[in-house]
Amino acid sequence: MKFVRKNENTDRYVDNIFSVSQAAKADKEGINATAGCLYDEEGKLYTYKCVFDSEKEISAAQKAAYAASPAGNPDYIDLVSDFILESRVKNHHVAMATAGGTGGIYTAIATCLEQGDHIIYPAISWGNYKVIADENGLIPLTYDVYDLDDLFEKIDSVKEKVFLIVNSPCENPLGHAYTFEQWEKIIGKLNSLDKEVILLCDIAYIDYANGDPKAYFRLFDKINDNVLVLLAASCSKAFSYYGQRLGALVAINNDAEFLDHYLNLCSRCARATWSNLNNAGMVNVARVLKEHREEYFAELQAAKEMLKKRTALFVRQARECGLELYESADGFFVTIRMKDNASRDAFHQRLLNARIYTIKVNKGIRVALCSVPYRIVDGLAGKIKELY
Ligand SMILES: Cc1ncc(COP(=O)(O)O)c(C=O)c1O
Repeated sequence: MKFVRKNENTDRYVDNIFSVSQAAKADKEGINATAGCLYDEEGKLYTYKCVFDSEKEISAAQKAAYAASPAGNPDYIDLVSDFILESRVKNHHVAMATAGGTGGIYTAIATCLEQGDHIIYPAISWGNYKVIADENGLIPLTYDVYDLDDLFEKIDSVKEKVFLIVNSPCENPLGHAYTFEQWEKIIGKLNSLDKEVILLCDIAYIDYANGDPKAYFRLFDKINDNVLVLLAASCSKAFSYYGQRLGALVAINNDAEFLDHYLNLCSRCARATWSNLNNAGMVNVARVLKEHREEYFAELQAAKEMLKKRTALFVRQARECGLELYESADGFFVTIRMKDNASRDAFHQRLLNARIYTIKVNKGIRVALCSVPYRIVDGLAGKIKELY
């Protein structure tokens, strides 16, 4: 194609989620299980009261102003980094603000990989990993999240630098999470390699996981010098602050001096892409974490419980009616298992005809329980099964 970079992916970009979710929004009588955002029991986007009450206090000048630096506002960085790590990591670490979780993932990839490098991510995963990989001329290698041997084989097949994305817990779309013991094996494997390894943990949904989802962070104190751990966090999900485009990238390594240089590279990358983030959003998230902490955690807990009730009901009713789901632990979504993508397409169309709006994923159909009120979740598995 004329004018553009060689090797640009010139296929027309189709946002598979956007087109179905537009149709779902237009159909007021249909069941909208497409959104990647949390909705309340009235079917409205879930907003944190403390976040939006606090936002009212932000002045026009704060909204108009540039942020302190391309890496973000210092108090936002400190508070969000503490919120993410909860003092669990004793190893050296640095952090910067990013444009959502996506900005953190993009920065990690842009700073560590070059054209022709491999990138390893789950075979059934968030579609944007592939878009970012294509944009950067990378070769995707995918693994089965349920099979550590498969993951380790993929890691071994890469001869140069290993760049691995793990989206756990609350994997999008499977809801899968690695146990602490599985994390021990993953870190053990990465430590055993005689090459550079970047482990990018996409923790966009971690705040909605039950139990102790951050227990594995303490393993980051035991990484070898060849391992760089990057955590990409998302305020879109954590604070239901999707449009404000905020997140954070935390880098962990045994060498403080390296991290200082690495943060400088990330800042340069940020300056060259988004240049500067949403100042008012950063001021507000910092204020919530400083001044409205308790309210925030109470509201988060209520959101988690709402989600958990929906998921428990759907999973139980799916089991009762024989609708086969991928095994899930927590999260915004569950996924119906399909044997191949041809049968998935036909089934998805039948669901659309019945005005049940869902999202196609590789060998599956994603049901976004995050966007479906409990009273509508009740019986949904059975309705879906009838169309199978
Ligand atoms: C798996 C996963 N990672 C990261 C993100 C990043 O979201 P954002 O850039 O809005 O923070 C999303 C959003 O849907 C996601 O599903």
